[in-house]
Amino acid sequence: MITGPASLHGAGLGLRRAFVRALLDTSPAAVDFYEIAPENWIGMGGANARRLRALTERHPFVCHGLSLSLGGPAPLDLELVRAIGDFLDVHDIAVYSEHLSYCSDDGQLYDLLPIPFTEAAIDHVVARIGQVQDLLGRRIAVENVSYYAAPGQEMTELDFIDAVLERADCELLLDVNNLHVNAVNHGYDALDFLRALPGERIRYGHVAGHREVSPELCIDTHGSAVIDPVWSLLAAAYEHFGVFPTLLERDFDIPPLTQLVEEVEQIATIQRRAQPEQRAHG
Ligand SMILES: [Fe+2]
Repeated sequence: MITGPASLHGAGLGLRRAFVRALLDTSPAAVDFYEIAPENWIGMGGANARRLRALTERHPFVCHGLSLSLGGPAPLDLELVRAIGDFLDVHDIAVYSEHLSYCSDDGQLYDLLPIPFTEAAIDHVVARIGQVQDLLGRRIAVENVSYYAAPGQEMTELDFIDAVLERADCELLLDVNNLHVNAVNHGYDALDFLRALPGERIRYGHVAGHREVSPELCIDTHGSAVIDPVWSLLAAAYEHFGVFPTLLERDFDIPPLTQLVEEVEQIATIQRRAQPEQRAHG
């Protein structure tokens, strides 16, 4: 079974290893595709690897990297990129995304820091995305990340994202929750920001939960249910750009699978409302 871009549609779920056995027994009908972090699976053998292969044979998957550090100062880990390429081939996965950010000194911390919104940073990250795309032989998608400070800012976040996407000729992983969190924390209008993004570059989307510390401060935790303003923003995104594949991320305080599937069903409901025929046909 080939799981190329054409088969990526509808509503998805970030796959937790703890759910693999359950999903092999029963696949929830609401989940059209899954996302995994290749770093969590590369090099794994034995029964776990066989179970993952059984799932990737049955369902479309996307890969979402954790540690490539596209904006980081250290040379790109080309061995990791090659290993990711092999992983994508073995599992017939067409879509690979990474964060428009960089990991702190120790990449193993998976601590994602924003790239400074500067011309020099654009040149740097565009060259690195180009390197990755050349090695993988495909366009990759980069994700708008949540950030809490923007030191040395020379331009708006929007201009920075636009310039990177355009010059690297890459795709966008639109994280609607990150957009909401940033709009609250940095005092801009989420809808204006959303509508100004280059919609033709959206490859797929993320929704997730976050923690509201105060009306002016949200912390992006991926540790709770998606809140109504984020669902509304997702609906607005579909209305403006058309429906795109979207998945639920949940990394902490993981509830039972059935509860996560209910949130995936909510994505599907919003997609059907926005464009019934598009969701039906992918
Ligand atoms: Fe995300």
